[in-house]
Amino acid sequence: MIIAIDGPAAAGKGTLARRIAQIYNLNYLDTGSLYRAVALKLLRLGSDPTNFELAVKAAGSLDDIALDDPALRNEETAEIAAIVAANQAVRAALLQYQRDFAQTPTGAVLDGRDIGTVVCPDADVKLFVTASAEVRARRRFDELAAKGIQTTYDAVLKDLEARDARDQGRGTAPLKKADDAHLLDTSKLDIEAAVTAACKIIDAA
Ligand code: DC
Repeated sequence: MIIAIDGPAAAGKGTLARRIAQIYNLNYLDTGSLYRAVALKLLRLGSDPTNFELAVKAAGSLDDIALDDPALRNEETAEIAAIVAANQAVRAALLQYQRDFAQTPTGAVLDGRDIGTVVCPDADVKLFVTASAEVRARRRFDELAAKGIQTTYDAVLKDLEARDARDQGRGTAPLKKADDAHLLDTSKLDIEAAVTAACKIIDAA
């Protein structure tokens, strides 16, 4: 079984995908971490973020970057990840890795922006997880505050809206709900309710 989970930043995809992977005993891949890993490699090499030739090379040899490296989560890494993710050649270089992961015999959950549309168009279940920008900003703000990171709700909201525009507006594999994806709006759901709703969709598929 392959489950594709897409949606905008901070919609709760990652938490939901991890829970679903546990419940159905599937492998889990956070595909955003691949773009972040390419970005981190460029950063560590001191490279220009628009050196796409180097980015493609980095995408082809990801094995030396741990996909749980805490530096992947930095804002600086996220900024550069958004730049490399808009490049067609970088996306192409990461495609096979994601498809191979999806084909593991035990089945997989992948989350990202283009899993249902590009990476796994034949996935058994597709979820498009979203929430209003205000709700996502509130959740992200609370998360940052809990980590002791100083910012304001307004700054977080502005940043999310900019990220949405970039993800949806890019020419290559823009963030978009697949026609056959189930829409899961978590604006009014806590994580448990979102998991329950997702399981209902998966069990009915
Ligand atoms: O979900 P995230 O913030 O970790 O994603 C990092 C960047 O990679 C973000 O700019 C969106 C992009 N991305 C993408 O273009 N396609 C994916 N399948 C996953 C992430």
